Amino acid sequence: MDKWTGKVALVTGASSGIGSDIAQALANAGMVVVGLARRVELIEELAGKVTGSGKIYARKCDVANESELLETFGWIRKVLGGVDVLICNAGVFRCNFVTQSDSSDFRDTFNVNVVATCICIREAVKDMKERAVPGHIFIMNSLLGKRIPDVSVPMFGTYPASKFALSGLAEVVRKELMYFKLPIRLTSIHPGMVQTDLIKVFDSALALRLPKLEACDVTANILHCLRTPLDVHIEELTIMPAMVPMM
Ligand SMILES: NC(=O)c1ccc[n+]([C@@H]2O[C@H](COP(=O)([O-])OP(=O)(O)OC[C@H]3O[C@@H](n4cnc5c(N)ncnc54)[C@H](OP(=O)(O)O)[C@@H]3O)[C@@H](O)[C@H]2O)c1
Repeated sequence: MDKWTGKVALVTGASSGIGSDIAQALANAGMVVVGLARRVELIEELAGKVTGSGKIYARKCDVANESELLETFGWIRKVLGGVDVLICNAGVFRCNFVTQSDSSDFRDTFNVNVVATCICIREAVKDMKERAVPGHIFIMNSLLGKRIPDVSVPMFGTYPASKFALSGLAEVVRKELMYFKLPIRLTSIHPGMVQTDLIKVFDSALALRLPKLEACDVTANILHCLRTPLDVHIEELTIMPAMVPMM
């Protein structure tokens, strides 16, 4: 991680679950982390737990609000110089039937999961391009951005549609980065079920019994991608919980 020491990482959705774990690990590895979320007090608490040489700046930001996001990028440029590593992690999951949902659920899901990711990528690429730095962008996708499992009660809402949109977005942005000859890597992370607050929306006994990853399993894979030499591009990782053999 030496090449990233003192560099700036922006982590959206850093107040809980996967984003909180990533923010802490990057700061412990020596990065200057800016964590965004609405529950900023949780990120402030996290900042106090950093044990490594980096630090965490906690910023209150609703990523569905473009002016708040742009203000945050402006603050990062002015105070820290710009974003080197972007982790688009904030996400929402409305567990319902598409055919019975309110339109506000469709909009909220796409605004947070897709539109905010597009805005963050555009702004971070501006920063990386202007300073000619070899940046790295991560999109927190999902297994549900690749395939939809057969389940007895398919209450996925528009979440898989938003994650499939991120799969298309990643491919297009990678092509744009090549077209503009920018040394920026983009990795899509597709985890299976992870033990976080997001899955509290499932109350079925089946979901509770399924094997799950821990947030640190996802973080370990992000660190692995960052550690690879700059001429190695891990474009996509699917990370599934494995069955533990009975001893
Ligand atoms: N858990 C899983 O099984 C799983 C599997 C595959 C992929 N993922 C993906 O992993 C990512 C993180 O989810 P998680 O499992 O760690 O769930 P989580 O603990 O519920 O975390 C979600 C994060 O997103 C933030 N967020 C949501 N809406 C926001 C908004 N409008 N503005 C700013 N931040 C917002 C939340 O912060 P505030 O509420 O404080 O704003 C929170 O920090 C998501 O993209 C999710 O789709 C999760």
